[in-house]
Amino acid sequence: MQEQLRKDAKAVILFDAAVAPQVDDRWFAPDYWRGQGVLREQSGGRGGIAVMATPAGECVLRHYRRGGLIAALLGDRYLWRGAAATRSFAELRLLGTLAARGLPVPRGIAARYVRHGLFYSADLIMQRIDGTRTLAECLRDGQLNSALAGRVGTLLADFHRAGVWHADLNAHNILVGDDQLYLIDFDRGRLRQPAAGWQRANLQRLRRSLVKLGALQAGEQVFERELWQPLILQYERTLNA
Ligand SMILES: Nc1ncnc2c1ncn2[C@@H]1O[C@H](COP(=O)(O)OP(=O)(O)O)[C@@H](O)[C@H]1O
Ligand SMILES: [Mg+2]
Repeated sequence: MQEQLRKDAKAVILFDAAVAPQVDDRWFAPDYWRGQGVLREQSGGRGGIAVMATPAGECVLRHYRRGGLIAALLGDRYLWRGAAATRSFAELRLLGTLAARGLPVPRGIAARYVRHGLFYSADLIMQRIDGTRTLAECLRDGQLNSALAGRVGTLLADFHRAGVWHADLNAHNILVGDDQLYLIDFDRGRLRQPAAGWQRANLQRLRRSLVKLGALQAGEQVFERELWQPLILQYERTLNA
């Protein structure tokens, strides 16, 4: 990533000059893309995601919002602790590091923070990964089988071997393509010394997510035999390869 900064009175943008040299403040406003007739999708929810066709290709714009109880209090505001500690700069840089290691993640394009006194708000733009569905969608459509579960195990082991801790490993953050799987949503993610404790906790989080999405419908034994054991088997094989 060829890091470059662009600053105005309140906002600072960190971007990859090799991919999007022309990025400016307008890139972070869905209305700007709507005005150009290239806004493809906009969804509410916690994420607040927009998909648009930019000069740097199809991109996803995510506005950072707080989750849980603190959301009612702080909404999209985070306590300022310096530029490098902003959610958006940290995630953009982590994406750059992971891509450089050959891990399958979206290409980071630009990150922004906007100061509001003691607080800031933040946004991230990354390239959209085309031709994929989330693992949650695969489960819903009955396409999560032993083979796919095994591929997920291999994917997670690749990240864990590289010491990548994902703060929110759930079935919506795994994208499934015909030949490739991807991990997305690295907000609060970081590199850690590989260790069985956090790696297992990461896997358990994914298991809870699958259960919450209805993976136990055919019974826990079927889930264990058809999905979870194949996933763990491929995970262990790759981790110890
Ligand atoms: N780079 C991307 N390429 C394709 N789809 C994406 C990409 N980033 C996000 N999405 C889609 O948008 C959803 C929400 O994005 P995510 O980054 O996980 O934010 P959040 O979980 O905070 O809402 C994902 O579950 C996925 O369906
Ligand atoms: Mg997500």
